[in-house]
Amino acid sequence: MSKEFKATEYLLQSINTGNQFNDEGWTLEAPDEKEPTLIRAIYEKKQIDVKDVSHGIYRFADWLPIHKTLKGSSAPVTYKSNGLAKHLGLTNLYITFSGYWPEKDANFPTCSFKETEAYSVCGRLSSEEKKVLVVASAGNTARAFARVCSDNKIPLLLCVPEDYLDVLWFNKPINDCVKLIATKSGSDYFDAIHLSNLVCQLDKFIPEGGSKNVARREGMGTTVLSAAHEIGKIPDYYFQAVGSSTGAVSAWEANLRLIEDGRFGNNKMKLMVSQNEPFKILQDAWRADSREILPMDDDEARKVVKIIIAKVLSNRRPTYSVPGGLFDAMKDAGGDVLTATNEELIKAGKLFEELEGNDIHPAAAVATATLIKAVNDGTVNKDDLIMLNITGGGEDKFKRENDIVYLKPRHIFEINPGLETLKEVLDKLF
Ligand SMILES: Cc1ncc(COP(=O)(O)O)c(C=O)c1O
Repeated sequence: MSKEFKATEYLLQSINTGNQFNDEGWTLEAPDEKEPTLIRAIYEKKQIDVKDVSHGIYRFADWLPIHKTLKGSSAPVTYKSNGLAKHLGLTNLYITFSGYWPEKDANFPTCSFKETEAYSVCGRLSSEEKKVLVVASAGNTARAFARVCSDNKIPLLLCVPEDYLDVLWFNKPINDCVKLIATKSGSDYFDAIHLSNLVCQLDKFIPEGGSKNVARREGMGTTVLSAAHEIGKIPDYYFQAVGSSTGAVSAWEANLRLIEDGRFGNNKMKLMVSQNEPFKILQDAWRADSREILPMDDDEARKVVKIIIAKVLSNRRPTYSVPGGLFDAMKDAGGDVLTATNEELIKAGKLFEELEGNDIHPAAAVATATLIKAVNDGTVNKDDLIMLNITGGGEDKFKRENDIVYLKPRHIFEINPGLETLKEVLDKLF
């Protein structure tokens, strides 16, 4: 596919100042601007031409900042719910599913929507790039990047906390171009991020960039493009569980583009984002009408993270305050931050499996639980057009149908290793 693909044309824009500039290959920040801001892609093509499903995620390539396509991808699938909709008395519930569900044409071997960002980010990376991409993650992002880079022979260094290594399961071995390093037991996601930042001080490496990377956001925005394409309209409500909030910001950005396209209506979906109680830093900030996340004691935060089942929702530094982040998105589009307890998410996950026919990730069960509560308390009406973003699922099914192998770390580092030690180890790896 790569050879025939014509690069997507786009400019980048600072949300803070509106300044537009070219993508110098891996631009993550607005040049010469002091204030922090997200940057956004402005596509040449205002009306999206959605290709057939054989293109995988690249069926949405018109609105992906890429210049090549990779093999093996699947696009999120949207379908009208029967079982759950009837149970809740909803007439217009659409489910967008990113995971493993071959019967519905969803073939994500890593079982979450993080695969969409990996295909988009790696499609942005130039084939001439000599540096090694670095990704820090404690969950689905690590697995998605490992699989995509392995299948497409893209050098990758993954930084993961040792206690989370069990997220690195696969149905086939990972190619040697992907190397894993870990921060020692007892460390968390932030220690892995710190390690990745140290690595990126060395010449050989480039940071993936997280929510600052337009390609990451556009990849996740394909969930909304899938829904709008299937429904023919922009939904009224968008339900998604959030950790970093990147997915919800991407959903809002995709919504703005769909309005500009002109064929899908001109409404903004209310962003009904959700967290796993008692970890609810976004709800606390949003309900206090605060652009800043409220101060939180680190030890208290760690305690709370231990309690919740949907660990991927425990990001303590979400993309919330920065211009163009979740606070701005929700101020513009409306919505609320909802929560579900462990008990509620377990119940919702079981209900989904029973009524729709597939298992879902605990995070997606949080979104489902909050939808159920929103129906019960009258926040949404029976005929509202609702998109439920099932951000991960089919993992139990996938594991039942496949033999599973694990990626092993090449080195386990102390929490704050010296640069010399790091260099010595990494020089042997790349
Ligand atoms: C399955 C799943 N759902 C939802 C989320 C939250 O996404 P975001 O961090 O973009 O808010 C994650 C994050 O890892 C995830 O893995």
